[in-house]
Amino acid sequence: MDNTAIAAVILAAGQGVRMKSDLPKVLHPVGAKPMLAHVIDAAAALDPRRLAIVVGDQAPQVREAATALRPDAQIAVQAPPRGTGDAVAKATPALEGFDGVVLILYADTPLIEPQTLRGLVKAAHGRAGAVLGFRAADPGGYGRLVLDKAGGLERIVEAKDASPQELAIDLCNSGVMAVEAAFLRSALPRLAPNNAKNEYYLTDIIAMARGEGQGFAVAFGDEDEVLGVNSRIELSAAEQIFQERRRILAMADGATLIDPSTVYFSHDTQIGRDVVVEPNVWFGPGVSIADGARIRAFSHLEGARVGPGAQVGPFARLRPGAELQTGARVGNFVEVKAATIGEGAKVNHLAYIGDAGVGARANIGAGAITCNYDGFGKHRTEIGADAFIGSNAALVAPVSIGKGAYVGSGSVVTRNVEDDALAVARGRQKDIPGWAARFRKAHEGKRQE
Ligand code: UD1
Ligand code: CA
Repeated sequence: MDNTAIAAVILAAGQGVRMKSDLPKVLHPVGAKPMLAHVIDAAAALDPRRLAIVVGDQAPQVREAATALRPDAQIAVQAPPRGTGDAVAKATPALEGFDGVVLILYADTPLIEPQTLRGLVKAAHGRAGAVLGFRAADPGGYGRLVLDKAGGLERIVEAKDASPQELAIDLCNSGVMAVEAAFLRSALPRLAPNNAKNEYYLTDIIAMARGEGQGFAVAFGDEDEVLGVNSRIELSAAEQIFQERRRILAMADGATLIDPSTVYFSHDTQIGRDVVVEPNVWFGPGVSIADGARIRAFSHLEGARVGPGAQVGPFARLRPGAELQTGARVGNFVEVKAATIGEGAKVNHLAYIGDAGVGARANIGAGAITCNYDGFGKHRTEIGADAFIGSNAALVAPVSIGKGAYVGSGSVVTRNVEDDALAVARGRQKDIPGWAARFRKAHEGKRQE
C-alpha cells in the first residue's frame, strides 16, 4: 500500500429532512459559504489524488454546486438515499485502481479542519482504517463507539439501534473515517440493512474489519469541530462556532474587536492590522479591510474594499463594488454601491453613491445622491478630485462633475459640469416681505385641531 496516497469521498446525497427546507441541507451556508464547500475545501487541503462527491437526484442544485466548486471532482449519484454505506458504494467506480487511504467525509460536518484529517489518515496506517471520534456533552443522535476491555474499537452502534447502556456512552462517531482502499472495496458489498432505519450503514464496516483481525483505530477530535448539522438549531450552533473561530483569528492577526460577540464574519473576510471594529458590524462575503481602518458601530458591508486608514460608519452600508481608498470616510446613513471613493474623499452623512467614481479629496454633502437608475439601465456618475457637492444635490446619471467644481445645494444636475465651475440648478429664492404675518391674521381663530 502506498501510504501517502489519499482519495476523498464526500457524502452529500442525504435528504436533510430535519432542516425542513427547500434548499438542500448541504447547501445551507455557514459563514456565507455552503457546508458542502467547507468540506470540499478541507478535503482539498490534503491534496487527494481523487475526489468523489456523492449526490442525490432529488436536488439538482447539489450536483451543480459540486461541479462548480470542483470541476475535477467525480460526481456519483445515489438514488434513492439508502444509507451512508450505500452512498460510499456508489463512489467506488471513482476509486477503481486506487491504492491508499480513502478519506470519507460527510457534507453536513462543515467545521472539520485539514490538520485533524491529516491526523486521522496517520492513525489509519497499518490498520483497516481509523474513525474520528469525540466526547460529546450531549451524545443525542450520534453513533456510539463501543470499545473492548483493552480500549480497542469493537463496533459503532447508531443511536436508534443502541441499548440503554450503549446510549450512555459519550464517545461518539463524527462520521469522518479513513479507510484502507482494498478493505473498503471488499467490505461495502457485504453490508446489510439490518437496523432500525433499514439502511446500509457505513459504520458497520468497523465490526467487519475487527472480525477479520485488522481493526480500526480511533483518532480524537474536538466536539465543536465535528458538529454534524441536521437541523436549523444545529446550523446556528455551527455558525456560532465558526464566528468564534473567525473573531479569534482577526484579533490574533492584530485587529481590535471591541465587542467580539457582536461582529459577524464571512469565510473570506480579510482584516488587516490595527483595524478597529466597533460593536454590531456585519461582514458579508468578499470584504477586505486594510490596515488602520476603523469600522464603526452598526455597519453592514459586503463585496467591499476598505483602504488603509479609511473610516466607515456608524450606520453605513457598503454594497458590492464599493471601494474606499486611503483615508476615505463614509459616515452615518450612507450607502455606497459599485463606486470608488477616492483618497481622503468624504461622504459623511445620509448619501447614496452608486455606479460612481468620486475623486480624491472630494466632499459629498449631506443628503446628496447619484440617480443611477432610470427604471431600465444603470448609469455612471463621475465626480472629479476636489469637487464639492452641496447638500441634497441629485446627480442624474450619466453625468460628470469636473475637478474642483462646486454643485450648489439642492441642485438637480442633468448636464456635465466643467472643472472649477459652479453649477446651480434649482428654483431661485423669492422673498415676499410681510406675507406670513398677513396669512396668520387672515386665518385667526380658524385653526383646526
Ligand atoms: C451519521 C453516522 C453517525 C454519526 C453522525 C455524525 C452512519 C450510519 N451514521 O449519522 O454514526 O454519529 O453521522 O454526524 O453513518 N448521506 C448520503 N446518503 C445517504 C445517507 C446519508 O449521502 O443515503 C450523507 C448525508 O448527506 C450527510 C451524511 O451522509 O452528509 C450523514 O448522513 P445523516 O443522515 O445526517 O447521518 P446521521 O444520522 O447524522
Ligand atoms: Ca448528520
